[in-house]
Amino acid sequence: MAGDALVIFTPSGKRGRFATGTPVLTAARQLGVDLDSVCGGRGICSKCQVSPGVGAFPKHGVTVAPDALSDWNAVEQRYKDKRGMIDGRRLGCQAKIMGDVVIDVPPESQLHRQVVRKAASARAVAMDPATRLFYVEVAEPDMHEPSGDLERLAAALAEQWQIAGIEAGPAVLRKLQTVLRKGNWAVTAAVYRDHHGGAPRLLDVFPGLYEGALAGLAIDLGSTTIAAHLCDLRTGEVLASGGIMNPQIRFGEDLMSRVSYAMMNPGGDVEMTSAVREALDALAKSVAGEAGIDPAAIMETVVVCNPVMHHLFLGIDPVELGQAPFALATSSSLSLPARDLGLKALNAEARLYTLPCIAGHVGADAAAVALSEAPQDKDDLVLIVDVGTNAEILLGNKTRVLACSSPTGPAFEGAQISSGQRAAPGAIERIEIDPMTKEPRFRVIGSDLWSDDPGFAEATAQTGVTGICGSGIIEAVAEMRMAGIVDAAGLIGSPEQTGTARCEAEGRTHSYLIHDGSAQNGPRITVTQGDIRAIQLAKSALYAGARLLMDEMGVDHVDHVTLAGAFGAHISAKHAMVLGMIPDCPLENVTSAGNAAGTGARIALCNIAARAAIEAQVKRIHKVETAIEPRFQEHFVNASALPHAVDTFPHLSQIVTLPQVVHNTGGGGEGGRRRRR
Ligand code: FES
Repeated sequence: MAGDALVIFTPSGKRGRFATGTPVLTAARQLGVDLDSVCGGRGICSKCQVSPGVGAFPKHGVTVAPDALSDWNAVEQRYKDKRGMIDGRRLGCQAKIMGDVVIDVPPESQLHRQVVRKAASARAVAMDPATRLFYVEVAEPDMHEPSGDLERLAAALAEQWQIAGIEAGPAVLRKLQTVLRKGNWAVTAAVYRDHHGGAPRLLDVFPGLYEGALAGLAIDLGSTTIAAHLCDLRTGEVLASGGIMNPQIRFGEDLMSRVSYAMMNPGGDVEMTSAVREALDALAKSVAGEAGIDPAAIMETVVVCNPVMHHLFLGIDPVELGQAPFALATSSSLSLPARDLGLKALNAEARLYTLPCIAGHVGADAAAVALSEAPQDKDDLVLIVDVGTNAEILLGNKTRVLACSSPTGPAFEGAQISSGQRAAPGAIERIEIDPMTKEPRFRVIGSDLWSDDPGFAEATAQTGVTGICGSGIIEAVAEMRMAGIVDAAGLIGSPEQTGTARCEAEGRTHSYLIHDGSAQNGPRITVTQGDIRAIQLAKSALYAGARLLMDEMGVDHVDHVTLAGAFGAHISAKHAMVLGMIPDCPLENVTSAGNAAGTGARIALCNIAARAAIEAQVKRIHKVETAIEPRFQEHFVNASALPHAVDTFPHLSQIVTLPQVVHNTGGGGEGGRRRRR
């Protein structure tokens, strides 16, 4: 028998001794080295490429001779001629170990490769998708040993890939016979294996070695917008992203109005279900089109959404979510055929996974945020706020994680604001007000110039100055507070009180003029007293929710605030704190996580262990129900002041001094009125 040789794999550092003549792929498998293969070592998929080293490796204590691997063979040459291969690379299934050797597995050949994420703070995601491709050679039918094509395919998968007990649905069975014969009994099977040890499912078969797209769709189904990321299930790469408005808006702007629509209109829930399903199907088609792939290559989709959207999408009447005790039909994760939920554009056997819901008001989207931000792994106490029409709030660290949701309403998205608009070119997104002159300067989406910069008018001639978006209104109100135009109670002063003619009387209240475009037939953009009240209601709800969680945790401050959601990405930490949207903490510890729910959906799409982990984690998250918590009202009322009636903001006061103005003259006007939740 031949001698044995020491094999060291990098970057894993795994090592072992193997009989000379052992293929590198075999050695890798035995050592549990992460080396990919779709063809099972037949030399046709090239997934097993490795980079052998030559020369001295003092760190590993070996010197690698030039003949440490078997000679370059015809299979490798054929692959290189046909497809090209980087010089120095070998096919791991072809190269055999002949002497001590150090073998590097490049990232592309790692099955569980790490997907680099853009946000620096975020942890990397390892690829471990539920759906993978397996090339198999299937026995031909035999008159003397009658058996079905599926049974012979199943036997091949069991024998060649140790995948036993495969099940197949009607759509794939319909094409199986043709594909097997077309591939001359060699096919690539797309196999889905869940994380609960259920029977593996055959999703699709392709003749020969399939090298086309294999994709998954991560969907963040929001009440206002729906966002989708199409991901390559082999690499984790995002192939295309897209978004649309949720068509259910026509049945009600916010969640509760949609629940009422279902309550008041028999069949209303069914209407909303089909509207959202059709929209998702169209979105899947459009992102696939953008990526240049057939939507049938989408084998899986992961959907995250709040509980009402969850029920409406699944076709469950959401009425129970509209009344205490807010019982969900199910809080568990679900794994279903996508086709059953009307997603017809995807592969006919595609699977759909929904993350678990945390509670009747805290949905799978919050679970996705928890998956992406992982508060349970943090030493610091972190408050994570996902601001939408409903704010989902998580507070936690290694010891405990709490969650609640709070009905902020759509004001932070620019809705219910007199000059509010969607974040689009022409919308004011940044604003500064000079505390002395009370004169504003601003920037609009689509231009980097400030309004008092030379060339601003020309730069914005195309878009105009059309309104204020969500982040703009937060800055506007906070700047008005810092400039003394608005007092702590939220009252806009008169021209006499503030010393500026920009404060204009409007009935018994005042509004502040930011921009007058009327000479150019454009709008007059003002912040009215009503706008301030809408922002106060929204921010009080948000702060009160956070405060309830802090009570439950027994703390009066947090170390970190993470703003999630598209909106969080654009919000200025200082301004959010001046408004008292979020509790005081060091300003540099207020960070944005981007679309954390969407990221969580992508993680669950690419990694089945993450599905199991979040299912377990959600069971440990403690839910606080804001709607029935008696202290919510008290916190809400206290949080109405800018920034707060009772709580102190020591970090904020180090950088901002808020003027002690009072605009209420005691005349029983707006300032004396209380708004009730
Ligand atoms: S395993 Fe497919 S080419 Fe080596």
